[in-house]
Amino acid sequence: MEKELIGKVALVTGGTKGIGKAIANRLSEAGAIVVVTARSRPAKEQTKHHFIAADLTIANDTDTVVREVNEKFGTIDILVNNMGGSTSPSGGFAALTDEHWENDLQLNLQAAVRIDRSILPQMAEKKSGVIIHISSVTGTLPVYQSLGGYAVAKAALNNYSKSLSKEFSPQGIRVATVSPGMVKTDTMDAYLQSLAETSGSSVEQVTQNLMDSLGGIPMGRMAVPEEIAELVGFLVSPKASYITGVNYIIDGGSNPSL
Ligand SMILES: NC(=O)c1ccc[n+]([C@@H]2O[C@H](COP(=O)([O-])OP(=O)(O)OC[C@H]3O[C@@H](n4cnc5c(N)ncnc54)[C@H](OP(=O)(O)O)[C@@H]3O)[C@@H](O)[C@H]2O)c1
Repeated sequence: MEKELIGKVALVTGGTKGIGKAIANRLSEAGAIVVVTARSRPAKEQTKHHFIAADLTIANDTDTVVREVNEKFGTIDILVNNMGGSTSPSGGFAALTDEHWENDLQLNLQAAVRIDRSILPQMAEKKSGVIIHISSVTGTLPVYQSLGGYAVAKAALNNYSKSLSKEFSPQGIRVATVSPGMVKTDTMDAYLQSLAETSGSSVEQVTQNLMDSLGGIPMGRMAVPEEIAELVGFLVSPKASYITGVNYIIDGGSNPSL
């Protein structure tokens, strides 16, 4: 792999598991200094990156992370807002309380807004930087049965990311969104397992149901995290120097709209 990110400092939120871990590995292979955050410290053998423990749904933790990266490694060139997800129950509208909505919005929208707010001034001063928001295909293709609040939060993230690109691209900062479809991570496996237990169906059946609710996946399978990481690796590289303000859907072809 070309070492096109040598000298760059990259922060990947939620970079200890799943898609975030694959992104952190990909950026590191391209030569970047990579810092990852999560609430729980991974075992030493599970990450080769610099790690900072933080709960990014808490404002103070966000500032601490940015300060620590700046002190140890200098200003941040690449920010991948990957952390996100949902612990809300399935069952559609009636199953969601105010708390579920608030959690979904905190995890998938507000945590990213806060960390962007902390980092944008240093990117603006340098007149360069790249911010990637990891959204979801559900941001444009809602799956109300199981992912209501999450899908709405990701839709808001898409809108916010576009608006941020309009404001900051003139200052040399590129902002883009990556929206995966179903990706085979441990969290996805656990989610499918819990859906199977709630519905009394097999994991294979609930997997198929979820794929069907997206209108089917023409590729016939979920993505692996490395496939999402490859797209992010390209987007943050100098090769993507004219790319900003876009939302890349990477879903094996399931989204039916143009
Ligand atoms: N997997 C999919 O099929 C899929 C599809 C579309 C979009 N996405 C999106 O892709 C992103 C990554 O998903 P994933 O499935 O790879 O997730 P994952 O495997 O569950 O990993 C989530 C990461 O975020 C960290 N994290 C969770 N809550 C946090 C918090 N409050 N503060 C700081 N860190 C926190 C986790 O570590 P700790 O638990 O130790 O904090 C972990 O490192 C998310 O934005 C998700 O919405 C995933």
